[in-house]
Amino acid sequence: MKDEQHIVTHFKNMKQQPVVLQIKDLYKSFGNNHVLNGFNMILHKGENLVIMGKSGSGKSVMIKCLVGLMEADKGIITVMGNDITTLNQESLDILRADIGFLFQGSALYDSMTVRENLEFPLRRHTKKFDKDIDTEKLVVEALGNVGLADAIDLMPSELSGGMKRRVALARTLILKPKIILYDEPTSGLDPITAKEIIILMKDIQTKYNTSSLIITHDVDCARVISDRMILLIDGIDYAVGTYKELSASDDPKIKAFFKH
Ligand SMILES: Nc1ncnc2c1ncn2[C@@H]1O[C@H](COP(=O)(O)OP(=O)(O)O)[C@@H](O)[C@H]1O
Ligand SMILES: [Mg+2]
Repeated sequence: MKDEQHIVTHFKNMKQQPVVLQIKDLYKSFGNNHVLNGFNMILHKGENLVIMGKSGSGKSVMIKCLVGLMEADKGIITVMGNDITTLNQESLDILRADIGFLFQGSALYDSMTVRENLEFPLRRHTKKFDKDIDTEKLVVEALGNVGLADAIDLMPSELSGGMKRRVALARTLILKPKIILYDEPTSGLDPITAKEIIILMKDIQTKYNTSSLIITHDVDCARVISDRMILLIDGIDYAVGTYKELSASDDPKIKAFFKH
């Protein structure tokens, strides 16, 4: 009961927080494949918002439109109040430096050491930092935050799947993003490693006070991490609510996600 109270209060507080990301009426088709048919989403400051949808439902397409890797057919996307379609390149770059993106599958550079993998984004986003930043300090700090300080000189091939995922997370954190977008952060990991990554993501959210959008089809991940969830079904935000609310629904399409 106490727990329930806490969740309700937490959710109410959340709604009073500023909106950091918003998608309004997003459409995207590939020929006759109508993937997104008017999808909506709001992410508040400090919130962990989970988007759940079946494989092929358009989750990655949605997140790619959000970061500008794909052009939407229609819809409005605002980042910290700025409509991204109206921004010039320079303003977009500044906004982008505040958004961390953890791609599906980690994607470390195989020919670079862990250290070099982490230095890479620092070089690309130098505008956000002073010329004489202490790269070494930032790399060590970011690795420490994911519990991998000792792995700094290893090659990706020497890391386990879970360690690779941690390094990818450290590489995202090193830019001190205000918003983190996770695309299937636990996919391909065994259940125990997946759980470790989820707990790490939660810790990071608390420590850095980031706002996170987490795309997953992992119900356990959603239960542990979400303040709120959106179910992406038929290309729309079919259902929105807390894990508790959605998992208690009688709607067959919603129920299908929660039965094990
Ligand atoms: N670049 C593309 N060209 C054509 N079809 C695509 C492209 N990217 C994604 N799709 C299609 O869009 C649908 C949604 O894909 P995706 O967003 O990757 O699904 P998921 O929810 O599993 O992340 C799929 O039917 C996929 O085949
Ligand atoms: Mg995907």
